[in-house]
This record gives sequence, structure tokens and C-alpha cells, in this order.
Amino acid sequence: MIDALHRLFGEHFGAGPELVARAPGRVNLIGEHTDYNDGFVLPCAISRQTMVAARRRDDGQVRIVAGDLGGVTTAFSLSEPIQPDSAAPWSNYVRGVADGLLEAGLDLPGADLAIIGDMPQGAGLSSSAALENAAGLALAALAGQPDFDRSRLALIGQRAEHRFAGCQCGIMDQLVSARAVAGAALLIDCRSLECAPVSLPDDLAVMIVHSGIERGLVDGEYNLRRQQCEAAARHFGVAALRDLAVLPAAGGLDPVAYARARHVVGENARTLAAADALRAGDLASLGALMAESHAAMRDDFQITLPAIDALVELLQQAIGSVGGARMTGGGFGGAVVALLPVAEVKRVRAAVLASYRTPAGEPPLIMIETPAAGASLL
Ligand code: GLA
Repeated sequence: MIDALHRLFGEHFGAGPELVARAPGRVNLIGEHTDYNDGFVLPCAISRQTMVAARRRDDGQVRIVAGDLGGVTTAFSLSEPIQPDSAAPWSNYVRGVADGLLEAGLDLPGADLAIIGDMPQGAGLSSSAALENAAGLALAALAGQPDFDRSRLALIGQRAEHRFAGCQCGIMDQLVSARAVAGAALLIDCRSLECAPVSLPDDLAVMIVHSGIERGLVDGEYNLRRQQCEAAARHFGVAALRDLAVLPAAGGLDPVAYARARHVVGENARTLAAADALRAGDLASLGALMAESHAAMRDDFQITLPAIDALVELLQQAIGSVGGARMTGGGFGGAVVALLPVAEVKRVRAAVLASYRTPAGEPPLIMIETPAAGASLL
């Protein structure tokens, strides 16, 4: 990938880059739609990632070439107000991050940027967070801040999603992509942004199955879930649903908002319990918690699809009580995550390939992942 990146940079900008930044995608093991409720999540970074090669320019221009999109280019100026560009929506993450870094007071020079990655699109594995962090770190390094605080980097990526991409997302994706520790999942308290690494046992495999149902144009559903959760928190008189250890009686709250709250309150407890189960190597409990999480996403939060439910059931049956499976990420398509003993991978993979086909009628992409480290300069 790095050779292709250098080639891409040379072809478009002549000579070579000054630096290369990388940031990983993520898979969430448990803790879904809890982050913007100030709750807990347990994701890990994956080996699939985005790389950004960068060289300083002194004219305040940012020129970008995207290798994964067939070498399409765009440009913008740092000396004028930065705006989203509907003609190059893929670049809005970079525009948003540049805007956020300027607002944070960094003295950004112009830049030539080449982007490349190996993230499957529409899988819900946070390719946008990986791009935000890699581009943000590259720009910060060009501005003389290679050690730019990783939590601030993540917050700037989240701000880019809010202001430049129209998704009112939480902090999970950007934060784990920025701060992950190799070999571990991160238990994140999304209120304090405290991250506690939880090592994954060597004999545990993280399997990701891409349903082949692309997550597209679902920001509306996402933002609606967020509003419903906030309405529930207001109804119960708390700052965020995180503040409810137990779900009170509905007390007149509309049934849909109540069901959303039931998912979130339960999911926070499940996430903390799952971190304990992982630490104890208790895969049976972990699997049961993942199954409960999936059922709540299906019935209370209503973000799964019948084909995803069927894929999860298939995995749960193949894995039995030695691990678990659930949909991962924002919902409405994308990937399913399974945790299982390494020794069972071959058999479970065969079971999936024997029975599941994507909407295009193809066997699904199956990835076996080792938790990667967060964003870094190469
Ligand atoms: C998306 C968002 C995250 C999080 C998940 C659901 O990935 O970007 O902030 O809310 O959905 O857990």
C-alpha cells in the first residue's frame, strides 16, 4: 500500500511526500449507540486503514488526490472560509478536519495530500474516521505538531462529521482510531474520554463478515435515533441516558423513545459486563451479552435488517457457547462481528460461506482481524 501511495503522490505532485500518516478503521465489539449518550463502548482498531502522504505548500492551497476513487482530485484554500463541497463529498472529511485544526489555532500551511486505503466501503468499519484521523495527523505534523493530542484529533474528526458531513455521530470511531492499543480492545467512557485497554486473549479470533449490504444515506435514521435518546433523557430529567443505571417506568414517555432508552441503558451495562468477561476469558458470558445486544438493536433500537439478523443467527448457531456474534456499527447494513476461538475459525467460516450470500449473490467478505494500534506517523 505504501508503494502505491508514493507512486500516486509522485504522479500527481512530482517528487515525494514529506511524511505519511496512517489511521485504522474499527470494529465495535459491543456498546452500540451508547457513545452519544455519554456511555460506554468496547471497540478495537483493525488492520484495514487509510494512509495520507503529505507535503507542505506555502501558498495556502490544499490539493488532494484520492487513490481509491480512481485518482480523482480536488482543492481548497485555507485563506478563505472552508466549506463542504457537494461536487467532491469524499473530501468533506479533509475539509472539515482542516477547518477544525485552524479553529484549534494551528498554523496550517498549504498541503499536497495523497490518500489511499484498504477499507471496504459501506461496511460500517469507520473508513471516514480513519480518513479524518490520518488527514488530521498529517496536517498537524506539517504545522509542526506531530504529537498533536490524540483525543483532540478525534474531537476534530467528530466535529468534521457534524459540520461537514451532516452526521451527528458520537466519539467512538474517531477516538478508537486515534488511541487504540495493538492487541487490545478499548473500553471507552464516552463522557470522560478515558480509554482502558482490554487485552484480547491470543486464542481469540475477531471475525468480521461484511453483509454486502452497503450502509448508504442512513444519516437521517442515525440522527433521529440520537434525537429520540435525547428526548428520553430530558423526560427522565438526566443530562444523558448514561446517568440511568436502571430504566425507570415510562411515565408517559412515548413508547418508541422508551424502547430506545431501554436499549441504551441495557447496552451500557452489557458493555461493562463484556469488558469484565473479556478480561476473565469468559467467552460464554461474552457470547450471551453479544446476543442480548443484537436482540436489543433489532427490537428496541430497530437498526438491523432481516438479512443481517439472519447472518447473525447463522454465526451464533455455528459458534454455539464458545463465543458470540452481533451486528456492529451504526446499523442498516454493514458488517457483523463474531468472537470465537481461533481453532473454530475454519469451521465457522465454512458455515457462513455455505449459507450466506450478499444481495449481489456473492459469498461475503470475511476478515480475521488482530487489533491494531491507533493513528501514527510512519
Ligand atoms: C456510528 C457513529 C458512532 C456510533 C456508532 C453506533 O459508527 O459514528 O459514533 O454512534 O455508529 O454505536
